[in-house]
Amino acid sequence: MSESVTITDNRTGESIEIPIVNGGVDAAEWRKLLPGIWFADPGLATTASTTSAITELDGENGILRYRGYPIEQLAENSTFLEVAYLLVYGDLPNQAEHDAWIEDITTHTYVHENYRKRIFDAFHYDAHPMGLLTSGVAGLSTFYPEAKDIEDPENRLQQTVRLIAKMPTLAAAAYRHRLGQPFVFPDNNVDYPTNFLRMMWQIGGPYELDPALQKAMEILLILHADHEQNCSTTAARVVGSAHADPYSSIAAACAALYGPRHGGANEAVLNMLDEIGSYENVDAFIESVKSGEGRLMGFGHRVYKNFDPRATIIKNAAYDVFEVTGKNPRLDIALKLEEAALSDDYFVSRKLYPNVDFYSGLIYQSMGFPTEMFTVLFAIGRTPGWLSHWNEMIEQNSRIARPRQLYTGPEVRDYKPLSAR
Ligand code: CMC
Repeated sequence: MSESVTITDNRTGESIEIPIVNGGVDAAEWRKLLPGIWFADPGLATTASTTSAITELDGENGILRYRGYPIEQLAENSTFLEVAYLLVYGDLPNQAEHDAWIEDITTHTYVHENYRKRIFDAFHYDAHPMGLLTSGVAGLSTFYPEAKDIEDPENRLQQTVRLIAKMPTLAAAAYRHRLGQPFVFPDNNVDYPTNFLRMMWQIGGPYELDPALQKAMEILLILHADHEQNCSTTAARVVGSAHADPYSSIAAACAALYGPRHGGANEAVLNMLDEIGSYENVDAFIESVKSGEGRLMGFGHRVYKNFDPRATIIKNAAYDVFEVTGKNPRLDIALKLEEAALSDDYFVSRKLYPNVDFYSGLIYQSMGFPTEMFTVLFAIGRTPGWLSHWNEMIEQNSRIARPRQLYTGPEVRDYKPLSAR
């Protein structure tokens, strides 16, 4: 059996055989046989936009691996910053590399005071923190104009460190702006999740974090750290392919993540659970989804068609968090919703299963995060993934992203003056 496909142009009888390499066929070969005939693929559902050595995702078998390491092992044994190193460099660090990386990240956590104050003060008190974060990240490009030199690998690494380090600072600042509370400066003597949660919540006296919540935060960040060519990563790559600086590219990723079909889904799950209101209303809600009145948020995935391995890990982590915080009152509704959907042919036949967002919102809420912060947490976690892909794309010397379209608009027509229309 030949590992190839043959395409025949029935208009001319000409054929071309294209080898299957890494599970894909080269569109350049297609273009040779069929110039001007475009591959119609809305949502790029059948298009591999790149080769990538970062994350392996097998949706049929529920497999997710960063640089070859199973997500389950990383969530159990690693830390977010170690995983960030793995994504960025391609390998786990040895002790010396690990220590240097942690030192590097923790000495770049501060954001220029004038900038932080001025940019966040420009927003209304109830501005959504994703709006602040997206603008905050984009604006950093004006602080580090040298970031434009994207051809220099050392320079790219410098901006990568800065962004991973500063995301929690910007995120916490966005949160406290909303509350009208004074900003808490980063503490470079504590680990990444502890520093972030302290900046979020410390008021007055010392801040102490329960180790179970610290671990849960590490796990949540690790689970979100990368997910190959998802919508926001693609947004970063598309903008980066124009050779925009990394801050502009990552701001584009933040903007994509903000959408309720992507990073906004966990916020939407909580709103949905509130709307359902009680255990008794679950069946009626399921019926309304089936009749097309809305989607069951936190269910379904473009790639995972059996289960989302992140959802399994997160469900277990949820119980560890609830031991400390007490059970989230919405948990019973969520569990019944999950049970009802998993035994309903509508969801089963469409291969709709809980995704990472179904339980993450419940954890975040129990830890004290308001729903508006959920996508911000996702963005902090995804930053190393976005930057690894951006870096990989530059290294690949990729072409500018510029898809084609199939034009379906009017034929040519002559302009008529307003009085003649
Ligand atoms: N509830 C009810 N029906 C659904 C859902 C859902 N959550 N998701 C898909 N469907 C139906 C959809 O109506 C369609 O039915 P039909 O064939 O009868 O028209 C079928 O399933 C296929 O849906 P699709 O829109 O073609 O699927 P997609 O691959 O384009 O969309 C998705 C994937 C994640 C956007 C979608 O499942 C969804 O909107 N889910 C809810 C939002 C959500 O939880 N998003 C978080 C994704 S995980 C986080 C991340 O990685 O970003």
